[in-house]
Amino acid sequence: MARCISYSVVGSTQEVALRLAKEGAPHGTAVRAETQMLGRGRQGASWASPKGGLYLSMVVRPDLAVLPLLSLGVGMELRDLLAPHAKHGTIQIKWPNDLLAIPAHGGHARKLGGVLTDVVTRPGIDTYAVVGVGINVQGRRSDLPPDLEPNVVFLSEISPGPVAEKELEKPVRAAILQACTRLADPKVREGLPSALAPHLYGVGKPVAVEGVRGTFVGVGPKGEALVEVHGESSPRTFEAGELRLEVA
Ligand code: BTN
Repeated sequence: MARCISYSVVGSTQEVALRLAKEGAPHGTAVRAETQMLGRGRQGASWASPKGGLYLSMVVRPDLAVLPLLSLGVGMELRDLLAPHAKHGTIQIKWPNDLLAIPAHGGHARKLGGVLTDVVTRPGIDTYAVVGVGINVQGRRSDLPPDLEPNVVFLSEISPGPVAEKELEKPVRAAILQACTRLADPKVREGLPSALAPHLYGVGKPVAVEGVRGTFVGVGPKGEALVEVHGESSPRTFEAGELRLEVA
């Protein structure tokens, strides 16, 4: 495996990895931090990064065809990695990039982690991506922003045994690399929407996305969300956005 640079505190592992990638860091180069001061989530959101979480970004240089499916492919690998920890429930992927813990006996879905993929294209030079993974492994609930706290779950809260963020570093790096390798196969890419289906959150439920209301029916071949709108013959497609479930 390529190197992993570890920090105790950093602004954002994503920004460090983007800089390293620009300087030519090879596929698999990773950056990890115990805490981030300026952790970044999707769509301009910040990512609270108190001690106890896993915050890791990796430079990847896969085939171009892999890039649109990369976040979901990494999400699938992470789901497989973390599923054995879900003592009383399951882990599902909320399009496009959330890992949710779903309790078996009622209670609401809570966010266990997220994936942020930044793709950089330098015309005539190269195209690469930085995949950032944040997992709420363990920690103090009082360290979480009060508005997020009710919707966050720590892996330690759903796991039958102790978990430490340090122990997850190597398996998470391997999961990102595995997603790149597996998605290089066109058959795996074609099969991703149906492989994801049983693990996708909210399928068949009423949703709102980008101001459009309909029923979430799954993910298309490019990783796009498919939403059936009443009275329309084919589902609308969304390449990005926030999927909001109208009913929990
Ligand atoms: C999301 O759900 O919005 C994605 C969150 C991704 C957070 C990770 S933590 C490691 C890396 N560094 C960042 O600043 N963000 C990503």
